Amino acid sequence: MLDQLEQVEKTALDLIRASADPAELRELEIRFLGKKGEVTRILRSLGSMSAEQRPLVGQRVNQLRGAISSAIRERIDHLEAERMRRLCSDPHFDATLPVAPLHVGALHPITLVTDHIESVFRAMGFLLLDYPEAESEFYNFEALNIPAAHPARDMQDTFWLEEGVVLRTHTSSGQVRAMQEYPPPFRAIFPGKVFRYERTDASHEHTFHQVEGLMIDRGVSVANLIHSMRTLLGAIFERDVEIRLRPGYFPFVEPGFELDIQCQVCGGSGCPVCKYSSWVELLPCGLVHPNVLRFGGLDPEQWSGWAFGLGLSRLVMMKYRVDDIRQLLSGDLRFIRQFAQG
Ligand code: PHE
Repeated sequence: MLDQLEQVEKTALDLIRASADPAELRELEIRFLGKKGEVTRILRSLGSMSAEQRPLVGQRVNQLRGAISSAIRERIDHLEAERMRRLCSDPHFDATLPVAPLHVGALHPITLVTDHIESVFRAMGFLLLDYPEAESEFYNFEALNIPAAHPARDMQDTFWLEEGVVLRTHTSSGQVRAMQEYPPPFRAIFPGKVFRYERTDASHEHTFHQVEGLMIDRGVSVANLIHSMRTLLGAIFERDVEIRLRPGYFPFVEPGFELDIQCQVCGGSGCPVCKYSSWVELLPCGLVHPNVLRFGGLDPEQWSGWAFGLGLSRLVMMKYRVDDIRQLLSGDLRFIRQFAQG
């Protein structure tokens, strides 16, 4: 057996040294070391050998494997070095010519802003949760106190997948899921894609991004809510931004608010993004409705909370002064390359 190994080694090393082609070397590697290779076959036969022979042959086989693979590696390096030498001695070769430009990828602005928001909220002790995009009618509507006849359920606004299943129209669909999953008190954000069946223009898309925020605790008040929203916007924009609070109606909050920020694209002078109003709706929010708490298995006498639904696509537009929301999903690399860092 040891003689046979000797023979295999000699054949292999001779072939490797004689080879002038990396592809051929890879074939030799398979022929000797591959699953059905010659060396592997010998290794498999170890089981049928006597107890004295086995360790000797085993050791020799391992040594042989090592010798063959390093011979192959050395040969490949050698061939590559030779190829480079030949190339450089070619009188037509000019090492000073510029190379073909390398295209470095860039993170999408939605990703950049999501990462930033996640780190801001993690630092404030929020859980980061993730819920389904294809959602039951129950979590998207019913559990949020949106009764069957509510206009938000209208076929015009919602993509229906099949009976009882929709593409979530907002990240609020995670609210009751979160309450069912985590014992109170807790605070969480859940960013994600949402979908609405609507006409697109510079400020409307059928698919856009939101971040839901939910805080459940005892004795949460409107003052807590407003303070939290201010802190949050300060952290996101890293400076003070003008805000405006209006009452807003959402069936799942009471009271509910629309928080607007001054348009950062035009600075308040009017543009298509703010529809020439100087303000952009960015952060609808409110105190969690008692019915929603009940759906989440919480007693509204004991527990309370606030929720917000941050319009992430709008936020990206404000932060990077993008004046058409459709650019975000355009897949246009010229758009995304502008966000390459460094
Ligand atoms: N889900 C609402 C929307 O998409 C926004 C919202 C979230 C409002 C949380 C209040 C509280 O329009």
